[in-house]
Amino acid sequence: MALTGLDQFLKDDQILTGDADIKNYGRDWTKFFTPNAQAIVFPKSTEEVLELVKWARTTKTALVPSGGRTGLSGGAVAIQREVVVSFEKMNKILSYSDEDRIARVQAGVVTEDLQNFAFEKGQYFPVDFAAKGSSHIGGNIATNAGGVKVIRYGLMRDWVSSMTVVTGRGEVMELNNDLIKNASGYDLRHLMIGSEGTLGLVTEASIKFTRKPNDPLLFLVALNHLDNTMDVFKAFRDQTNLLAFEIYDELALQYVLKAQSNLSRPLETVAPFYLLIEVESEGDNSEEKVLSVFESCLEKEWLTDGILSQSDQQSKDLWAIRENITEACAHRTPYKNDVSVKISQVTPFLKDLDIVLKKEYPSSEVVWFGHVGDGNLHISILRPETMTPEEFYKSSQSIDDVVFSKVKEYGGSVSAEHGVGIIKKKHLNYTRSEAEISAMKAIKAFFDPDQILNPGKIFD
Ligand code: LAC
Ligand code: ZN
Repeated sequence: MALTGLDQFLKDDQILTGDADIKNYGRDWTKFFTPNAQAIVFPKSTEEVLELVKWARTTKTALVPSGGRTGLSGGAVAIQREVVVSFEKMNKILSYSDEDRIARVQAGVVTEDLQNFAFEKGQYFPVDFAAKGSSHIGGNIATNAGGVKVIRYGLMRDWVSSMTVVTGRGEVMELNNDLIKNASGYDLRHLMIGSEGTLGLVTEASIKFTRKPNDPLLFLVALNHLDNTMDVFKAFRDQTNLLAFEIYDELALQYVLKAQSNLSRPLETVAPFYLLIEVESEGDNSEEKVLSVFESCLEKEWLTDGILSQSDQQSKDLWAIRENITEACAHRTPYKNDVSVKISQVTPFLKDLDIVLKKEYPSSEVVWFGHVGDGNLHISILRPETMTPEEFYKSSQSIDDVVFSKVKEYGGSVSAEHGVGIIKKKHLNYTRSEAEISAMKAIKAFFDPDQILNPGKIFD
């Protein structure tokens, strides 16, 4: 029996093999793949993860690390008889040092729980995105998660001060020891971050907190034309303390309003695009100053309308519209892209892509949204209702070529924040050179000599 030996270090209740569990733990938020794991295991400590890796090397069993499974690139799907390693039972915040302003956590701590913990300590953990209620810190590290506050606070990478990793070699590494300055050679911590569980399994991490921002001011504005997106961005970036700068289109708004009866259209004006702009308040005249930036954008006719949120509830609702786009479109199993270009290329890239998509797919519904302030766009092409998800996934391979050719032309990335997983691996070479990819493969061969860690993800 393939699972023989697991009972040497795991108890019965740490191993599941039922059909419903295989289905649940074998998939993430991509719905194109049929889960086919052989079991799910629930280690409780670094030592147990180490035993698992040793067992997997001996039995030549592939392991798929599993966090909140909110990924959108298939990085956590188990479709070829792997054993899923769930970190659900490693969900403790272990310690907090106020002096260091660092929390030590197990990999399975939920993002929102850590945000709340930071608040309780009078601090702030700024990695924030729609899936925060389920995503795990370990998963955020595995994909170098981004989200809605990157423009101000950077990526997950910027908040990890150290970590414990069990590599595919069956070694435990403690990386960086919470040092702010550490120039002693290669920083393997940063190599592990974003490696999608292909080099090692992160079991614990030390996460930095920061000062809570002052109360935010939140605008929802109607954009006249894509052309003006970055004009508005520059005006706010240069004159205010931006926390977030998000875009979504009218179709995205319609899907959210259809799905969420508690939310209503935020502006009377119906516009092709909307921007959600969050700014940190700074002292007494803050609101006036920010309003004057908004008004100057109106005068220049970059914007046609806008509101400044007047209450916490209104802000929550405005954010809910933005954050619920993915879920509101989920029943149409969209073909999602998560691409980025540098700021100066956003406008030409957007315009060019819009033209190409309209030409190639005139009858498709395309939902545009994303973190435009950091050059990251999510383009979701909705599955025609007449097609099954599998048929649509196959047919959408041609969309990839169209979109990624444009990404390449503009020097962008085929994955800004969701990771490569299975879905993007064919197009990794649109963003990375052959030399880079062969270096990555050599690194993989070193850290995972038996190909047991998330094989088939990022590259084959
Ligand atoms: C978002 C996810 C899809 O930005 O990354 O909502
Ligand atoms: Zn996003």
